[in-house]
Amino acid sequence: MEDINIQYIKEDMNIVIVGHVDHGKSTIIGRMLADTNSLPLGKLEQVKEKCKRNARPFEYAFLLDSLKDEQDQGITIDSARCFFKTAKRNYIIIDAPGHVEFLKNMVTGASRAEAALLVIDAQEGIQENLRRHGYLLSMLGIKQICVVINKMDLIDYDKSKFNEIVLQYKSFLEKINIKPSMFIPVSGFYGENIVNKSNKMLWYKGKTVLEALEEFRSERLPLDKPFRMPVQDVYKFTKEGDDRRIIAGTIEAGKISVGDEVVFYPSGKKSKVKSIEAFNEKKHFSATAGIASGFTLTEQIYIKKGELASKIDQTKPKVSTKIQVNLFWLGKEAMQKGKEYYIKLGTAKVICRLDEILKIIDASTLDRSDASIIQRHAVAECILKLDKSIAFDEINDIAQTSRFVIVDNYEISGGGIVVHALQDEHSDIREKVAIRNYKWEYSSINPEQRAEMYSQRSTLILITGDRDSGKKPLAKALERELFKKGKIVYFLGIGNVAYTLTVNGIMTNSRYEENINRMAEIANVMLDAGVILIVTAIGLTQGDLEIIKTIISNDRIEVIFVGDKLNTNINCDIHIKDINSLESDTNKIISILQEKGIIFKP
Ligand code: GTP
Ligand code: MG
Repeated sequence: MEDINIQYIKEDMNIVIVGHVDHGKSTIIGRMLADTNSLPLGKLEQVKEKCKRNARPFEYAFLLDSLKDEQDQGITIDSARCFFKTAKRNYIIIDAPGHVEFLKNMVTGASRAEAALLVIDAQEGIQENLRRHGYLLSMLGIKQICVVINKMDLIDYDKSKFNEIVLQYKSFLEKINIKPSMFIPVSGFYGENIVNKSNKMLWYKGKTVLEALEEFRSERLPLDKPFRMPVQDVYKFTKEGDDRRIIAGTIEAGKISVGDEVVFYPSGKKSKVKSIEAFNEKKHFSATAGIASGFTLTEQIYIKKGELASKIDQTKPKVSTKIQVNLFWLGKEAMQKGKEYYIKLGTAKVICRLDEILKIIDASTLDRSDASIIQRHAVAECILKLDKSIAFDEINDIAQTSRFVIVDNYEISGGGIVVHALQDEHSDIREKVAIRNYKWEYSSINPEQRAEMYSQRSTLILITGDRDSGKKPLAKALERELFKKGKIVYFLGIGNVAYTLTVNGIMTNSRYEENINRMAEIANVMLDAGVILIVTAIGLTQGDLEIIKTIISNDRIEVIFVGDKLNTNINCDIHIKDINSLESDTNKIISILQEKGIIFKP
C-alpha cells in the first residue's frame, strides 16, 4: 500500500483567461508559449513563414490554431485549453470564450479555475463582457485575480492612461469584493511584460504576467476542509459471488483513508471504508482532494449517484429542498417563478423552481432593481425550491460543493453558488430519517439481489382518489393478480395504519399527517424487504407524496388516481377515470408495471 502524497506530484494549476472579444487573450497565450520556449522547435518560424507566403500579417493566435493538431513536446491544445510548464508547476490556461463555457468549467470540476487573468485592451478600455466576467469570478469565489492591460503599444506605453484604466476598474472590482493582486501593462503582440520585462515601460516596477502566474497559490486542493466526494457512480464487481461495489467520484475536499467511517447524504446512510481503489490498480491507503478515486465499503449499503460522501467525525454537509443562492442567468428566455428547471450540483440533478427573488443586480452596472423575472445576464439573489433534497455546502464553508448550474431545456442556462441552506417544511422529518438510516443495521442481501430473486423491483403503489371511487377493490384485485404471478406483494389500507404502531391512535384529521408518516415508515421497511406494497388512501395530495418521498429510502413510487377528475394536486403516473372491469384495469396496470421494469420474468 502506498499513500498518495501530493508533494511528489508536480502541481497543476488551472487559470482562466477572460476578456472582451479581440482584446488579445490568444495573443498573450501565444506569446507566453513562445517566450517560455514551450513551442515545438521551428514552430514559430514555420507559422510566420506561412503568413508571409499568404501575404497575411502574422498573428500569435495562428500559433495556437496550428498547435491544435499537434500533441508533441508537452504542449497540447484542445478546444479551449492550453497547457504549458514552468519549473514550478504545470499550467492549464482556459480560454473561456463565453459565459456558458466559463460557468460549465467552473462548476464541473475538471477544468475549474483557481485564478484568473483579466485582459483589457488599453485603447478600448473596459467593456461590458469583462464587467460581467468580473462579477462571475467574484460570485464563484475566485479571489486570485490579475488584471492585464494589453496593447500598451497602441497608447505609446503611456503611464497616465494606464493609471486611468487601473483606477476605473479597481473601483468596479472593489464593489464586488475583488482585490486584484496586480495590474500589469503589457503588449502581447510585442512581448512586453509577458515573460520578459519591458524596457519600453521603465516606469512600471511590478511583475511580468508569467511572474504573476507563478505567484498564485494553488487552491485546487482544499485538503484542510472536511472530506467531500459526490458519488459519480457505483461500480459492481462482475465476478461471481463478489458483491462488492466501488463507490466512485472525484474528491472535492479533504482526505479519506481506509478505516474511516463515511456517511452519505441526503440519505444519511453510513459505512466504513474497506479499501481505496485507484484507476491504476495500485492499492492506496488514502486519497485526497482533486483525485478521481473510488472506495469499497465494509458494509454493503445501497447508495446512488448524486449522494455526497462525508466523514462521520467532520462537519456534515447541508441537506435541504430550499436554498438561497446567488445566480447568474444566461438563458435566452428569462427565468421565471414556478417553471421547472433542473439544478445540477455535484453529481445530483433534481427538478427545481424559482420560488422568490430577493434582489436583482445588473452585473455590468451593479444597479439594483426589482423584478419578478430574471432576465438574461442578470444576477439575482433568490430562493430555489427543489423537488428532492440534495446535499451540498454553503459557499463560505466549502466553495467546491456549493456551486451549481441550472439547466433549462437541456441547456445550461445559469449557474451560481449556494449562500444558505434554508429550513423547508420537511426538515424535521428529514432529520429523523437521517438518524434512522444512520442507526440502521443493514441486511447482507442487497436490493439488487432481492430484485433478481423475486423478479421484481420493490415499489410502493399508491392508489388514491375519492371516497367510494373503487380504489380498494382495484387494489385488492391488483394484489391478487400479482400474487398469482408469483410476486411478493402486499395490500395495506392507510386506515390499517391508524390502529398499528400506536398506543391509542384513532384517525382524526389532526392525526392525518401522522398516519401518512407511519404508513411511509412501514412502506420503507417493506420496500427494503423487496416487496411490492399497494397502499390505498383517500385524496392524497402532492404534499403528502413529498412527505412519503422524504421517508422512504427507495424512491420507486407509482401513483394511481382513480376517479373522473383529478381533484388534488398530486402528480399521478396512472389515471383511471372510471373502473369498467377490475380485470381489464388490473391488466392495464400490470402491463405498465412490466413496461417500467417493476415486474419482470426470471
Ligand atoms: P477572441 O478570441 O476573438 O475573443 O480575441 P482574443 O482576445 O483572443 O484576441 P486576439 O489575441 O485574437 O487578438 C485580437 C487582435 O488584437 C489581433 O489582431 C492581435 O494581433 C491584436 N493584438 C493583440 N495583442 C496586441 C498588442 O499588444 N498590440 C497590438 N497592437 N495588437 C494586439
Ligand atoms: Mg482568442
